[in-house]
Amino acid sequence: MAVNSNQPRDSFGSKFGIIAAAAGSAVGLGNIWKFPYEAGVNGGGAFLFIYLIFVLLIGVSVMVAELTIGRAGQRNAIGSFKALAPGKPWFLVGMMGIAAAFMIFAFYGAVAGWTLEYIYQSIRNGFAGKSPEDLSQMFTEFTTNPARPIMWQTLFLIMTAGVVIAGVQKGIEKYSKILMPLLLLIILVLIVRSVTLSGAREGINFLFKPDFSKVTGHTIISALGQAFFSLSLGMGTIITYGSYIKKKENLLNTAVQVSLADTLIAVLAGLAIFPAVFAFGINPSEGPGLVFITLPNIFQQMPGGYVFSLMFFILLAIAALTSTISLLEVIVAYFSEELKMSRKRATLLASSGILFLGILCSLSQGPIAGFKIFGLNIWDFLDFTSTKIILPLGGLFIVIFVGFVLGRKRVTEELNNEGTLKARLLPVVMFLIRFVAPIAIALVFLNMIGILKIT
Ligand code: TRP
Repeated sequence: MAVNSNQPRDSFGSKFGIIAAAAGSAVGLGNIWKFPYEAGVNGGGAFLFIYLIFVLLIGVSVMVAELTIGRAGQRNAIGSFKALAPGKPWFLVGMMGIAAAFMIFAFYGAVAGWTLEYIYQSIRNGFAGKSPEDLSQMFTEFTTNPARPIMWQTLFLIMTAGVVIAGVQKGIEKYSKILMPLLLLIILVLIVRSVTLSGAREGINFLFKPDFSKVTGHTIISALGQAFFSLSLGMGTIITYGSYIKKKENLLNTAVQVSLADTLIAVLAGLAIFPAVFAFGINPSEGPGLVFITLPNIFQQMPGGYVFSLMFFILLAIAALTSTISLLEVIVAYFSEELKMSRKRATLLASSGILFLGILCSLSQGPIAGFKIFGLNIWDFLDFTSTKIILPLGGLFIVIFVGFVLGRKRVTEELNNEGTLKARLLPVVMFLIRFVAPIAIALVFLNMIGILKIT
């Protein structure tokens, strides 16, 4: 069935549904896997402090800009630009976003698949009696296996597609409203366990006491990159979700609430992880292995570890699922609205493309690790191109578009709902969107390219 333009567009049914879906997109592996290890490597509280500034000054502005584009354009990431700037090349920003959605889903879905393997291992008590070396080997053997990660990754993709096929309100919103409260509940239980271990205090200090001696240019770039990734910005996810928000809702409040919720969950994840890490005398700067090697080691020594391990990996899978849903929706909305496919067909086609790239990513951890593009294996190449290039560049174009192209009148109307809202923050946000965000993003981006040239 082709899209019928006389039919009202599918949309989010309630305020809570909007927040659950958008926070569901934002809260993901980025919060629970990446934020803690980035903070661990970059000096704990100092990283948190810089990260917070980026979220408040830049993250919120880019999110407001994306919501504005989506709700004003009433279409997908590409269509909204076409509707707002007909005949101009701005839709290319949306194109980049669609490409990034495929790339991010490919490697993100691989890690999401790992969470299922770790749920399975938790159920069969597979970490018991293993030394840190054994656990590290277990992780390497699993991730380099030619078949097993692909099996889990495919299952994860099928779960994602199952939700997206069901539609915006009956699929995405419905599941987000169940999964997000569950996620919060699990994380709170884990925090209680973690902070009541003896020696937990040091972990709390690590997360909140800033050690600025660890801050380098690299810390700052990582913090901005992490803010973009964690808030799902720069590629049209929030444009797409914004297009499903009804005209009566307050976009500024939505952006602030979603950004704060996302940051809160990242901090809570740190609070669930670091006290336990310190209580067992383990080095917090383990990097990417923090969640898949360090934590199983802790779980198998901790009283009640069987249950907490299972809960933790379920938490990780839930967080990943509401995020992969949003990545898939960006592509599906585009395929169905611009290429006039049915939702089902669009989902199947998008999923096939993702599966193909995803399999390459998984294999690049093992069998085809030697295959390099610009010196990077396929996984690292897709990760680099999408998160280090497309997201900041996309974010830059998005704030410039809303700040200077769309026109102050149009943006104001969208943000104060045609004059019915006070929108007191509006002048501040406009200033951030027009000046602070583009300059900061451009500086960090150029610096990064500069650094690349040197090394
Ligand atoms: N924000 C999610 C996380 O933190 C990942 C994600 C979902 C994402 N959609 C995105 C990242 C769009 C960048 C762009 O895990």
